Amino acid sequence: MKPRQLITVGVVAVATVAALNTVPATASRPYDPTAQSLATLGLRHGLHVGTAVNATALNDANDPQYRRLAATEFSSVTAENAMKWESLEPTRGTYDWTAADQLVEFAKRNRQSVRGHVLVWHNQLPAWLTSGVADGSISKQELRELLRKHITTVVNRYKGKIWQWDVVNEAVSDPWDTPNTLHYKGFWAENLGPGYIADAFRWARAADPKALLFYNDYNIEAFGSGNPADDKTQFVYDMVKGLLAQRVPIDGVGSQGHLGTQYGNFDTLQVTAALKKFAALGLATAFTEVDVRSQMTEGVQAGDSAEINPRLQASAANFSVLMKACLAVRSCLSYTVWGFTDRYSWVPDWFNDPPEGLATIYDENYQPKRAYQEVKSDLIFAGPPYVLPRSTPRPRHREVTAQSLGRSGRMKVLS
Ligand code: XIL
Repeated sequence: MKPRQLITVGVVAVATVAALNTVPATASRPYDPTAQSLATLGLRHGLHVGTAVNATALNDANDPQYRRLAATEFSSVTAENAMKWESLEPTRGTYDWTAADQLVEFAKRNRQSVRGHVLVWHNQLPAWLTSGVADGSISKQELRELLRKHITTVVNRYKGKIWQWDVVNEAVSDPWDTPNTLHYKGFWAENLGPGYIADAFRWARAADPKALLFYNDYNIEAFGSGNPADDKTQFVYDMVKGLLAQRVPIDGVGSQGHLGTQYGNFDTLQVTAALKKFAALGLATAFTEVDVRSQMTEGVQAGDSAEINPRLQASAANFSVLMKACLAVRSCLSYTVWGFTDRYSWVPDWFNDPPEGLATIYDENYQPKRAYQEVKSDLIFAGPPYVLPRSTPRPRHREVTAQSLGRSGRMKVLS
């Protein structure tokens, strides 16, 4: 090794020990990384490992284990439903902050960061809003003003308390939609046109100068054909590039990471390449809703290990692919699972024809599954030179032209 390399290695080693903030292992007290939480192991890399939190489970006095694991295994939390518009404003003009406030307080008590989810989405909107638009009692102009007010109100309430906001969620269609050429889909695009996306980011930034503002979507883990007509990742890439060119204050792209073992899925290098392409635009990235479901065949339901084992292993492998790719790219700031236990997973409710399940990292009795151990080992065995500490962007503001265009110093180092 040349002296120069030695110095670099030394500096990295010192920095790593400092970041670890652990007492060096001794013969009588060996360091056992397997006894550490995902949160602690993630923070060695500056990476937040998070979970979506189910408000009912969090409040269930008979289930202290849910609370305990949510508090100790993760360094970031996302409200699974509590910050969606239908939860916050079920009656027009009356906000109910109870569940959302509770999660933010839980995070504070446990020194966790919060991913705010979600400001603009076509699902889980209050009935008064969608029916008002449908019957014409809410005009397009009024709708735009209602959206501006909603974003401003919610972001303002949690100003300074949210690390990353999912500002716009799932704005892009899928190849199985009609028409099958990818396009802006759903309630907001249909009523306001795609300009609502830029508006939403500007309104969010006006309300909180410091939160990192994300676009969030599924099926964007890897690039496909490269043709935006059928490659959703490419469509989203072109979209965020366009937003940056218009100096829209967007800081990151969230890749949800809802995978299924029945699909082909991706290898680590494909996912790494996608994260790097977004990073090269000067954007942060995050896995925001990772779960890997499986079809619950009769054999699985009857407990046939020959059917269960391959599913658990394939699920673990897919969790691991996303984790390794995230670790490999410094701008990948967080890895959030969409629920941590099969006891409370949205999968059996949403994917029931055929029935699906087994999607999370702990089983229904809070026993860690192979997926938990694989993700943990990824965190343990990763380090320099291929895995370096995170590099966080400064929140983007329209008026900082060079930074908005991705030309400034800090984000250039991202890869
Ligand atoms: C899901 C929740 O997990 C369910 O409890 C709810 O009934 C429907 O929404 N993409 C998203 C999340 O961005 O908000 C969704 O969460 C899952 C898909």
